[in-house]
Amino acid sequence: MPKERPLWRGAAFRLCVLSAALLLCLQLAVRRSWCPEERPRLPAVAASGRAVPQPRGTAAASGRRRVTYVRSGRRGGRPGRKTARWHIELQPWASPTPSLNYEALRFLKYISTSQISCEHMNLSSLRGNSEAMKRPWSVCLDERFSLIHRLRNKQCRLYSLGLGSDDNQFEISMANSGCEVHRFDPSIRSAHIQEGQHLWYHRLSVDWRDPNPAIAAHKLHSNTKKLGTILNEFGHQKIDVLKADVESAEWKILENLILEDVVEQIGQLVFEVHIHWPGFEVSGNDSTVVRYWYSLLRELELKDFRLFHTYKDLSKPQMLLKKEAFNASSCYTLSWVNTRWK
Ligand SMILES: *[C@@H]1O[C@H](CO)[C@@H](O)[C@H](O)[C@H]1NC(C)=O
Ligand SMILES: *[C@@H]1O[C@H](CO)[C@@H](O)[C@H](O)[C@H]1NC(C)=O
Ligand SMILES: *[C@@H]1O[C@H](CO)[C@@H](O)[C@H](O)[C@H]1NC(C)=O
Repeated sequence: MPKERPLWRGAAFRLCVLSAALLLCLQLAVRRSWCPEERPRLPAVAASGRAVPQPRGTAAASGRRRVTYVRSGRRGGRPGRKTARWHIELQPWASPTPSLNYEALRFLKYISTSQISCEHMNLSSLRGNSEAMKRPWSVCLDERFSLIHRLRNKQCRLYSLGLGSDDNQFEISMANSGCEVHRFDPSIRSAHIQEGQHLWYHRLSVDWRDPNPAIAAHKLHSNTKKLGTILNEFGHQKIDVLKADVESAEWKILENLILEDVVEQIGQLVFEVHIHWPGFEVSGNDSTVVRYWYSLLRELELKDFRLFHTYKDLSKPQMLLKKEAFNASSCYTLSWVNTRWK
């Protein structure tokens, strides 16, 4: 009889442990069903650790990039930020059945039509600039937009992305007008060079994704960064003017600026766009490519950017996607003003 008590106690203890475990299991199960989105948000990474290819080449995002987008979506905690997107919204086809002809006509009309008028675009009229610009890097200096005021108050900042610094006339004019100019050019000798009071050169090229960390570790001089990353590292909140002459990388860079909401930190955009081929990492048949370009520009319009100047370069080969049929130039210079920007 005295032996029975410890036996009973042991059984009770075991029952206790069992029910506690059961309760824990139940709780876990309930919690999992409460937050079902948690899992699908993780990047799709194959067993090899490499990214699973995405169906559309234009939006192909490596697993790593997706993670970065999630992070940058939270960056800075700016108000009004929505969940990060992986793809831009594609516009409907220009015609009931997809056709290059209709896509090209719609796109070319769009890039040839100013949406807002700007009276003062001539930098040469500002003090300190005697030379007229060789190329049409137009910025809008009308009083209703902030650029002219920020130039006068010496608060202006220009980022210029380019390859090979053959033509720096625009950058020098802006620097002479009192703008702080940062020129990003991977071909210069030192990491940073200051030339004059307001002009800096940085040995960096702007990309639409962060470098793979494995590659970055091997190559000590990883000079490729996303614009959002550069802004963060430089501690810059705003860019008054972003000029880009990046030889067909402009489409993916623009896409990245839109997807990460970096474009909202920019007052004016001056981009050279190239249309003789799809551009880096843009894929699909011809009509798909033109629709994608058009959709990107419509995203800018949605964000209240307005085209105020367009320039068709007649000195370059006159073709669109290797075709001469559309009387298009392979190269246009487009200027937008962010009408929401203060
Ligand atoms: C191009 O590809 C799209 C999407 O894959 C397809 O819907 C369309 O019919 C194709 N267009 C032409 C002209 O082949
Ligand atoms: C810009 O202004 C300068 C000086 O005021 C003038 O000589 C030049 O012709 C103007 N250029 C354009 C394109 O209006
Ligand atoms: C082709 O473009 C040029 C320059 O924009 C224009 O002057 C010309 O009239 C156009 N030709 C045709 C056939 O549309």
